[in-house]
Amino acid sequence: MSFPKMNFFRYKKTVNHILSIFLLVTTLGISQTKENLIPRIETQNGRHALIVDGEPYLVLGAQSNNSSSWPATLPQVWSAMDQLHINTLEIPIYWEQFEPQPGVYDYSVMDSIIKQARERDLRVILLWFATWKNGSNHYMPQWMKLKPDTYFNMVNKNGEPIDSPSPHAQATLEADIKAFSMFMNHLKEVDPQHTVIMVQVQNEPGSWGSVRDYSKEANKLFESKVPKEALKAMEVSSNNGGTWKQVFGEHAEEYFHVWHVASYIGQVASAGKAIYSLPLYVNGAIRNPINPGPPYYQVGGPNDNVLDLWKAAAPDIDLLAPDIYFKDTQTYLKSLEVYSTKTNPLFVPETFWHEDFPKFFYAALGEGAIGYAPFGLDDTRLRIGPDGKPMTAKDMYEPTALNFKLFKPMADVIAKLNYEGHIQTAIQLLPIDHEAEKGGAVDRENYVTDQTISLKSWDLNIAFGTFDRMSRSPFQPKHPDGRLLVAELDTNEFLLVGYHCRVMFEPSGKYADKPWWFLSVEEGHYENGTFVMDRILNGDQTDWGLNFDTPKVLRVKLYTRQLKSRPFLMD
Ligand code: DGJ
Repeated sequence: MSFPKMNFFRYKKTVNHILSIFLLVTTLGISQTKENLIPRIETQNGRHALIVDGEPYLVLGAQSNNSSSWPATLPQVWSAMDQLHINTLEIPIYWEQFEPQPGVYDYSVMDSIIKQARERDLRVILLWFATWKNGSNHYMPQWMKLKPDTYFNMVNKNGEPIDSPSPHAQATLEADIKAFSMFMNHLKEVDPQHTVIMVQVQNEPGSWGSVRDYSKEANKLFESKVPKEALKAMEVSSNNGGTWKQVFGEHAEEYFHVWHVASYIGQVASAGKAIYSLPLYVNGAIRNPINPGPPYYQVGGPNDNVLDLWKAAAPDIDLLAPDIYFKDTQTYLKSLEVYSTKTNPLFVPETFWHEDFPKFFYAALGEGAIGYAPFGLDDTRLRIGPDGKPMTAKDMYEPTALNFKLFKPMADVIAKLNYEGHIQTAIQLLPIDHEAEKGGAVDRENYVTDQTISLKSWDLNIAFGTFDRMSRSPFQPKHPDGRLLVAELDTNEFLLVGYHCRVMFEPSGKYADKPWWFLSVEEGHYENGTFVMDRILNGDQTDWGLNFDTPKVLRVKLYTRQLKSRPFLMD
């Protein structure tokens, strides 16, 4: 084949020209794709997924301590995160640092977090510590704090000041909207690869010590009519409208405060989302969902009784997230349950990390959680253990790392299975009367050890604890922390992930009473979404049940066959 002659420089120019057109097209293609790949919450059949890079994503997270975002302290954050095997760091951005002077913005803290997270291949959830942080205004810039009449706080029934910003302070709202818009705008500019996958708007908003603001402005509003959106949210017919007191009686003050805190944050969120549509959420210092008592809890935040009010007042908030610090197992489980609804994806942005608490990670997955993040796990502060001595890194990180190390290589697989509704979990429950003894002496004889997970044609009988090879009586660790996750992958094929338990299958439904056996039990791990078998378990490792004495991933296939007796029997 012959080519027309071309001088070298013309040839180079033409090649460059073609190359640049190619690059332009490719870049446009990529940027278009990336635009489509902005993280988002997706909902199907009442189940939810956080979609990152186009796929369901499971947040294996940890939240830093409050004052850890500074370049000076970040190294201690990263060293801890390495040991925890997280995939996502939750870390605050402080309004006082972000806008040191009115209209002057400092992106340096945000930029260094994003840059350093990328170097470590981690995703980030940024927490906007602004008007509210734990119900107070302590992260407002100094120039605002020094003008308390403009950026005012609440007053209680007796006219005394409360350490909580008023949701009726228009100037504060406008300032927060402006600052948050700059925050989201900058994020959009500097983060085309979506290192930051979600943003928390404020932190534990609401107030302690007064159920609402009793300022002149607030009292006037309290006498006005309940907005129709609030009536609808609380399923009150518009024919029964009226003032807050007329409509909601003894709950009027609480609902009034909730509505105004949520509307305020809703406006901040909408302004930010209009610029850059990342998933946004609000976390709550939640009330006890089983025994809430009178409102001595934080009022105004997303408590379980007002989730619908929040959804109506702040429609651009994608989810309302419980910070769970209940030590009682039943209350913890109830909290997971009430925040996992058809309209609210479950996400646990803060929780305990010590003792047996990591088992609740499994419980959260069983409720369809899109993520789970223990609070305060970095190296910036000394931890004193129950013996009065500084805790070792192992004591601090190991309980969480045991979960995340196992799940990180298969986080996407689990997120997808969960979104499709294939996952069930069980955790070791403590009898209620032992709750008080946590951390102290435990009664090893009386633990409730058995639970059953029912699948289509199989029951999984679970005994928690660790077992000697053939023994039926488990040993219990000091803090009983057994947990199991099962996913039905196909007919008679299961993924089992667990720790401190033994599992026995039992045929049910159409297989009830049929003889059966393991076709294969593979122990292994995931690599890039694919299961890699390390060994096949058989003999003593399967005849007495499947033992999860160490954290383990198993792929199990079963079959039924003609046999006179079952190979092992559950008592
Ligand atoms: C809940 C808050 O949201 C966190 O920022 C932190 O203050 C913890 N409580 C307590 O350390």
